Amino acid sequence: MALLSLLLALGLCLLLWRMRQLLQLGSSLPGPWALPGLGNAQMIGKLKPEYIFLVFTELRERFGATYRLWVGPQLWVFLHSPEETRQALHDPTLRKAATFQQLSPLIGNGLLISHGADWAAQRRLLTPAFQPQLLRSFAPKVATHADRLLERLQRTGGAAIEVTDHLFACLLDAIVDTSMGHRLDTQLVEHSPIVAAFHRSGELLFKRMINPLLSSDFVFRRTRLWRELCVQLQLIHELMERVIEQRERQLVEPQDGPRILLDAMLLAGLSRRQIRDEVNTFVFAGVDTTTAAMGFVLYALAKQPSAQERLHAELSQLPPGGAADLDALNKLCYLDAVLKEVLRMYTIVPSTGRQTTKATTIGGRRYCAGVTLWINMYGLAHDARYFPEPYEFRPERWLQAPTESEATASAYSYIPYSGGPHVCIGRRYSLLLMKLLTVRVVQRFRLELAEPLAPLVLQAQMVLRSRDGIHIRFLPRIESK
Ligand code: HEM
Repeated sequence: MALLSLLLALGLCLLLWRMRQLLQLGSSLPGPWALPGLGNAQMIGKLKPEYIFLVFTELRERFGATYRLWVGPQLWVFLHSPEETRQALHDPTLRKAATFQQLSPLIGNGLLISHGADWAAQRRLLTPAFQPQLLRSFAPKVATHADRLLERLQRTGGAAIEVTDHLFACLLDAIVDTSMGHRLDTQLVEHSPIVAAFHRSGELLFKRMINPLLSSDFVFRRTRLWRELCVQLQLIHELMERVIEQRERQLVEPQDGPRILLDAMLLAGLSRRQIRDEVNTFVFAGVDTTTAAMGFVLYALAKQPSAQERLHAELSQLPPGGAADLDALNKLCYLDAVLKEVLRMYTIVPSTGRQTTKATTIGGRRYCAGVTLWINMYGLAHDARYFPEPYEFRPERWLQAPTESEATASAYSYIPYSGGPHVCIGRRYSLLLMKLLTVRVVQRFRLELAEPLAPLVLQAQMVLRSRDGIHIRFLPRIESK
């Protein structure tokens, strides 16, 4: 017994010695009182997603712009200023936060979580698949999927519906079709098992990410959540492997010019497993985000009829066939301003994390290895110093050319797609999808909120969501084309 106590005491001393730099840094930063060993893990584990914003804003008010939390032995530091954000996003010694590695059962070592030489090689290989020239050629295919969405909305006969599932199915079909050359056609069935599998696996992975008690693989793999996740993942992995195999059989002659994502990977000789990981990364990173963004576009337009009518008037200037012509859509200033304002006001990815791998300096403060830095994109986009009346939806703020000082100030306060080398690879792609969908919906329907006075309760999950969904009435416009 005495020997055991001695060993335990020695083990604890060794741990504290190893953590001394983290402990020193942690105690030099302001933050809430932390339980020995557990830190603030209990508080974070219990936090409901709709309270995350409130709690983090309150902590910021109490402790100042840069504060810390302890999550067990992990030190989390929250950065808030645009300059700290810029430095963190460009620091080559930082890697994605360890929490994101928990996505690996779905996306393996895909671009979203890979690091160093692996990440650089993947990014080089995949970047040509997002060239404007190739994206432009996607427009007719996306328009076909958007038209299916319109048919589904038309069939509602003006009754209020929750739009998220409709948008998700449309965007999943469009992204899989344009990046993998495969038609999933989930919009043609009422309840698609693959849509459900993506939804549910996202939810289960997120439940794990926000519960520090599940961070160890050993613990997580003994839970009911893990068993359910395996069932959903099997469905996704089997489908993706079938799609990859089919395309491999069809891909005989290498074509000239940029290739769709899947072809680029097949021709580069990536293994089936690597391809599956990347494909799942694109569906995971692309569909949920663009669905959330489109949901908020429709919400904002329904909530603000004056903006909706101004956009509708702008669309009437489109030449015939212009609704599927990306060059014509790119000339629509008000459409552009609406999308920019939605991405600011409803910051789809509210925050992102980085991990220090060695000592580095950010915002004048020295960080040792092993610190998790959180970048608060939502907070920056709602800072009244950069965006006056930040909680007002005002597309007009994007219509005037910014002064030089405004442009410098907003460079790292408005980063809906992040910044630096890890800036979203799909940003142009998502804007293309959003423009094509928004234009078609607004040309065909007048949008009304089902309950105009009901407050929108935002939840910070993997992406920003409305806690109670987005309920809209799609009323056919008389003059619809
Ligand atoms: C409105 C839609 C979207 C938003 C708001 C968004 C936002 C973001 C953000 C904030 C990041 C950076 C995360 C970080 O720095 O840690 C990111 C990365 C990424 N996004 Fe997007 N995204 C969107 C659409 C898409 C689409 C359509 C795709 C692909 C089809 C995509 C694929 C990716 C990938 C692969 C990464 C990782 C890039 C890297 O680390 O090199 N995203 N996205």
